[in-house]
Amino acid sequence: MKEYILNKLKENKGEFVSGQEISEEKSMSRTAIWKAINKLKESGYEIESVTKKGYRLISEPDLLDHANNEFEKNWTIGSDYIYLDTVGSTNDYAKEIAAEKKDGTIVIAETQSTGKGRRGRNWTSQKGEGIWMTVLLKPDMVPAQAVLMTQVVAVAVAEGISDVIGEKAEIKWPNDIVLNKRKVCGILAELNGEIDYLNYIVIGMGINVNMDKEVFQGELADKATSIKIEKGKSISRKDILTSVVRRLNMYYEQFLKERDFGFIKDKSIELSATVGKRVKVIYSNETIEGDAIDLTDKGELLIKLDSGEIKEVISGEVSVRGLYSYVD
Ligand code: BTN
Repeated sequence: MKEYILNKLKENKGEFVSGQEISEEKSMSRTAIWKAINKLKESGYEIESVTKKGYRLISEPDLLDHANNEFEKNWTIGSDYIYLDTVGSTNDYAKEIAAEKKDGTIVIAETQSTGKGRRGRNWTSQKGEGIWMTVLLKPDMVPAQAVLMTQVVAVAVAEGISDVIGEKAEIKWPNDIVLNKRKVCGILAELNGEIDYLNYIVIGMGINVNMDKEVFQGELADKATSIKIEKGKSISRKDILTSVVRRLNMYYEQFLKERDFGFIKDKSIELSATVGKRVKVIYSNETIEGDAIDLTDKGELLIKLDSGEIKEVISGEVSVRGLYSYVD
């Protein structure tokens, strides 16, 4: 009944819908309608009630439930959508259900109580202010190919954010997303399989959307940001989500055909906050320093040392001069 009233109000957004009309259409008492309206208000819908005119929907809450996004029917990513209010970690949840769920399943939550970052770090996930989501992928490929998907995801997220805010989001290699030199999104990929066989890969994304400056205290103040802080106004999480998932679908489809990183390499370089910069990276137990000059078709970062020697780096914590991780 609540859904019926909500749909009716949405269809007539900005206009009054009379209680009489709903009551006749659904044979509902006026008290039952009033109770349903109150429930909607409690869930964050702003509804005006005026005697003799009825009810008018003023605004909807920025929730990430399926009814609220604008996914297209033919998308693989998001074809199954698990929306949770609270969860420990969407990555852990996705791993638990991986065996019975299909390729492209999304697990998304309004908040996480034990959100995980890379290298065992914690990831704070404020309720209703960010996008905390994991995509379950089951591509028919070997793990060595599938890991490249994390860099494909980075391009999709950067472009998905830019499409909405009209500002360039960059990629700190391999897969942090940066806005105005501070981190706005982290990506955590976890893989299950054997050396030559992939069961699944879960790729978790944490996008800081509507946090205020005060949320990032201490050393985080220089390192992390949100889209709201950079734009100076709240941004619809639903719009960012839909835009990111649109890009994910586009590039996942291409990745399944091409099966390597080459098809998206140029975009990745164009969006890179790393290529062309001075970097430090831990490489075979030592810290090397040099100029990041390019990416290879396999997604490796090419670093030219001062000696002229070129190193190919496949993974690791890279610090980029001028960005949060390497300021001198
Ligand atoms: C990092 O930069 O360290 C990666 C952060 C990844 C955070 C996301 S939020 C959704 C998903 N669930 C988790 O527990 N972590 C990832």
